[in-house]
Amino acid sequence: MPATINVNGRITGEREAVVPVLDHGFLYGEGIYETMRTYNGRVFLYDRHVRRLRNSARLIALDLPFTEDDLAAQVRDTVAAAALGRAEAYIRVLVTRGVGDLTYDPRATPRPSVVIIVKPQVDPEPSAYERGVRVVIVDVVRNHPETVNPMIKSNNLLNSALAMQEAIRRGGFEGLMRNYRRELSECTTSNIFIVRGGVALTPPLSSGLLPGITREFLIEIGRDVGIDVREEVLRDEDLFAADEAFLTSTTREAVPIVAVDDRAIGSGRPGPVTRRLLEEYRRRAQAG
Ligand SMILES: Cc1ncc(COP(=O)(O)O)c(C=O)c1O
Repeated sequence: MPATINVNGRITGEREAVVPVLDHGFLYGEGIYETMRTYNGRVFLYDRHVRRLRNSARLIALDLPFTEDDLAAQVRDTVAAAALGRAEAYIRVLVTRGVGDLTYDPRATPRPSVVIIVKPQVDPEPSAYERGVRVVIVDVVRNHPETVNPMIKSNNLLNSALAMQEAIRRGGFEGLMRNYRRELSECTTSNIFIVRGGVALTPPLSSGLLPGITREFLIEIGRDVGIDVREEVLRDEDLFAADEAFLTSTTREAVPIVAVDDRAIGSGRPGPVTRRLLEEYRRRAQAG
């Protein structure tokens, strides 16, 4: 099904939706975004996504041209126009620096562009959850936090795109990146967890990664269901020696990782801690 797209308040089909070539989002990748999804027609963890969008905007010194209520109304209208029926919505909100002259001077672009893309949410194949997936550790290094900080959910995605190209070439479901200190950081569109001795571990933000909303929510779930979830610096050998591993994202929830490169992780099958966290995540998502 084609996408329904809102460009600065005008909702059209995907073929009619255009932004000018002189938009600095196109010219320089100057912009930020969020990916959200619905469960039972309601956007899940909307407030947290808006909070992260605000933080991304602050980190690139961009004034968001809407209030939270304005944005919520635009998202609602775009989802309604998409008429997805019983399908859940995938929603991508982008804000770019806007249209202006060919200069990095932000004074040339007084009005940010706001785009909302709505499509049906496509879940990973059931086999990804039942049998698990293989990821590869890629050679592409995650952006140094003092260059394009991975904390910014930025439209400037070349780092991730190049990492995923490598993962695809090597047959990986995802590409796992290390940071410049060779610590594990995150995958191209997801965060990483390992399980060791019943404790779930995920790299800290200081390893240079996006503060994933699913990651944050799973840390809270772990606390509630009695699974210890902690942040810890992780390296390749921690992953290879793990009992379980999984990746997390809004559109994929928690997907078990059963192999990394050519090595099996744990038993080579999805493990009990991953299953328990996923089950509770889904229960809460369905409950809204
Ligand atoms: C680089 C990166 N890390 C992690 C994530 C997962 O974040 P979230 O759980 O908020 O979807 C994403 C999501 O797209 C991402 O692009």
